[in-house]
Amino acid sequence: MCGIAGYVGTKNASEVIIEELKRMEYRGYDSAGITVTHKDELFTLKTVGKLNALEELISAQKTKLNSHCAIGHTRWATHGKPSSANAHPHTTPKVSVVHNGIIENSAELKNKLIKLGYEFESETDTEAVAKLLDYYYNGDPVETILCTQKELVGTYALGIMFKGYDDTLFALRKESPLIVGLGNNENFLCSDLNAILNYTNKYYILENNELAVIKKDSVAVFDQNGQKLDKKINIATWQADVNDKHGFEHFMLKEIFEQPNVLKEILKHNIKNGLPDLELQALPNLEEIEKIIIVACGSARYAGLLGKYWIEKFARLPVEVEIASEFRYSYPILTSKTLVICISQSGETADTLAALRLAKLNNVPTLGIINVKGSSMSREADHVIYTNAGAEVAVASTKAYMAQICILYLLAVELAFKRKTLQESQIFELSKDILDIPEKLLNILKDNLKEVENLANFCSQFSNIFFIGRGLDSAIAKEGALKLKELAYINAQSYVAGELKHGPISLITENALVISLLSQERLQKKMISNILEAQARGGQILLISKEKILQNIPAQMKTLELASCNDDVMPFLTVVVLQLFAYFVAKTLGHDVDKPRNLAKSVTVE
Ligand code: F6R
Repeated sequence: MCGIAGYVGTKNASEVIIEELKRMEYRGYDSAGITVTHKDELFTLKTVGKLNALEELISAQKTKLNSHCAIGHTRWATHGKPSSANAHPHTTPKVSVVHNGIIENSAELKNKLIKLGYEFESETDTEAVAKLLDYYYNGDPVETILCTQKELVGTYALGIMFKGYDDTLFALRKESPLIVGLGNNENFLCSDLNAILNYTNKYYILENNELAVIKKDSVAVFDQNGQKLDKKINIATWQADVNDKHGFEHFMLKEIFEQPNVLKEILKHNIKNGLPDLELQALPNLEEIEKIIIVACGSARYAGLLGKYWIEKFARLPVEVEIASEFRYSYPILTSKTLVICISQSGETADTLAALRLAKLNNVPTLGIINVKGSSMSREADHVIYTNAGAEVAVASTKAYMAQICILYLLAVELAFKRKTLQESQIFELSKDILDIPEKLLNILKDNLKEVENLANFCSQFSNIFFIGRGLDSAIAKEGALKLKELAYINAQSYVAGELKHGPISLITENALVISLLSQERLQKKMISNILEAQARGGQILLISKEKILQNIPAQMKTLELASCNDDVMPFLTVVVLQLFAYFVAKTLGHDVDKPRNLAKSVTVE
């Protein structure tokens, strides 16, 4: 949610800022802005729209942008609609501020500042921070920031510049992530380390209430009392991912096609001698765990629902799957025999991070299933399993979700082995089933692409779409509906098929499309009845089914056949069809597939 960039050094600062922001555009893309120092003045440009709009403004103002010190911002609106006035930086003649987070007492601060004679131009919470800094400014930036901070309630990562300090950036952090990159005669500021890895792999992580003073040849960090801190330099051991579409029309399509390889790599590294080995030594007494709580948001939570099913079936361990934003304010029963698993692509989702911290506060062992290295969750969880899916650029999660469910499947099988709830021969069988999946996925991407595209064309005319399924398919139905909602802006709902008749079936008319998932052989008779019930109410059916089952369908309907494999691994195949389906529907409707409206990839506010 909002990306903060900063640069001070010898290069053209606006070029570096744009490079950084491009790598953080996933954090928000409704407006963007930059402040540079120009002849002792602060010069700011900002605009509504995606980053290319800012780039155009910058190239029209090239001479003024020729500076070596700047801050920049890409926004996801929290307070106030996307507009130039609401875009960051927020400025006064003395100060310029970019912000990620939410200032919860901004209304009170604004009232106070209005009484003091300040006028407000935007609807944002951030403008109050800029004006408060301006009010307290006494010629000493560090004192001014520390004094201002005392009045701020909420979460914030702030990048700040002061008039007259042409070669200095200031940064302050509480909760929202903020990193200082350490270069050679140049230093950086960013919300996500990956934004600066092309320039340097050395960095400081700012912790809560730390303030940094960043010049090209020095970085000093202070605590909230103004005491200088001795910070540890971190070194990233990985490279920046290449953000390139490799000839695909969209990042999302590229990422869907990367999935067979992502799975292959996970399986290569985590199955040894035919048995899963996720190197869980850091979690002692795993065999004694009596309950697992999986906490996540969005697609990551839907991945957790599959994890619950597999862990309960294979390892006979009770699993609860919680929505992080609810869990963090609930009264969970956590004991030393509870394992809390947080699943997150970004490792920065505010609610999931808060849930992780709640578990740690209760001295419960924590495991993170995380994609982004160096992220807050990856640093704070007791043990991390990286999904290693590579950079996921499209806002809608595909390959990261696929990697999450693969890790969860392996975890379930490994727990079954450790807890001896299955025989060794069954464990080998389950491992073999998943090892066959990458090839089957490749075949779907090769053989079914055109068919899915044609079906998507047909389906794009519906404005009411239901996804139904039972067992593992009910979790996949949720993911399919979410993908369609976020990309195609269609009112898509998912239901457990057996629940339809308890209410939702009243919504089914001839205008409704019911996408029915039928990959679970053991539930086929029940599921077929539910599909026929929906069809009898006039609903148009699209059946996505395992080929073996299709022969048993009594009525005419649109169908898509999937290769046959064990019920437990069918979700890996079904979900890729639903991803492609959402992709093609969104494309047919002319939407921005990679950057759907109103969304951001990393949700670092509540
Ligand atoms: C949907 C999607 C979101 C994320 C959710 C959690 O396609 O991407 O629902 O899954 O915002 O994000 P992470 O995994 O970064 O915690």
